[in-house]
Amino acid sequence: MILADKNAVIYGAGGTIGSAMAEGFAAEGANCFLVGRTAATLDAVAARIRARGGRAETAVVDVFDAAAVADHADAVVEKAGSLDISVNVIAQTSIFQPLIDISVTDFAKAMSDLVTSQLLTTKAAARHMIAQKSGVILFFGGSDPTSKVAGLGNVQVGFDAVEGLRRQWAAELGPHGVRVVSLLTGGIPESFPDIPETEAARQGMHEATLLGRAASRADVGHVAAFVASEHGRSLTATQVNISCGAVGD
Ligand SMILES: NC(=O)c1ccc[n+]([C@@H]2O[C@H](COP(=O)([O-])OP(=O)(O)OC[C@H]3O[C@@H](n4cnc5c(N)ncnc54)[C@H](OP(=O)(O)O)[C@@H]3O)[C@@H](O)[C@H]2O)c1
Repeated sequence: MILADKNAVIYGAGGTIGSAMAEGFAAEGANCFLVGRTAATLDAVAARIRARGGRAETAVVDVFDAAAVADHADAVVEKAGSLDISVNVIAQTSIFQPLIDISVTDFAKAMSDLVTSQLLTTKAAARHMIAQKSGVILFFGGSDPTSKVAGLGNVQVGFDAVEGLRRQWAAELGPHGVRVVSLLTGGIPESFPDIPETEAARQGMHEATLLGRAASRADVGHVAAFVASEHGRSLTATQVNISCGAVGD
């Protein structure tokens, strides 16, 4: 198993992407520390992981509570001995409106929340990773420099902001042996409920790819586990494209 005895903290682990990553890490032997605001959702993900023989613990923490995030990271290291993988995939506020119509206040709040959340969780992990001279920070979403879709409001701008953070963190943490990588996605159809009303959106994600199929939750877990493992030790300061050709280079 490529993540045997690694300790992974997943913020937003009750969601589509967070649970996919946690399940991917756990399947490769990692201890998963699942963080979110709703105990029941986290418990359900932990139960799925344990049912397959994996290891998972849960903690109810709001990532905007800086002290609680730092305390949780400290507690993980105290209990498990290291913090090897950190990823924050909490839901961000998405305002799908043309910029000409968008409320400046709402836009600024969404961007501030996104950057604040990513800074808080990455700082909490990075302190420990610097001390232990190893670790992997993952981001999810990535940046498509060819994007020409109107009406995305704060969404693409937010992805680009996170990519800016990813570049800066990579520059600052690389000399400490810590890698920083994003997964670039064209969208995961399983994010939408499997109901007739969302069929067109799910189908659109598949049709936008070159392979005729968009990445699944399982694909997210497999690639995230690979990137976080020693097999991915040459990857940092980059995004790994899991868009099945929906986004080219
Ligand atoms: N799904 C996709 O196709 C896709 C594509 C590109 C980018 N992304 C990005 O990936 C992220 C996750 O997407 P998703 O589809 O997995 O979303 P999701 O299913 O809504 O999951 C987000 C999780 O974040 C948790 N959360 C929200 N606010 C939190 C807070 N303040 N503190 C702690 N936990 C919090 C939520 O649980 P609680 O409310 O219970 O805490 C929820 O479990 C989003 O930022 C999205 O923009 C997703």
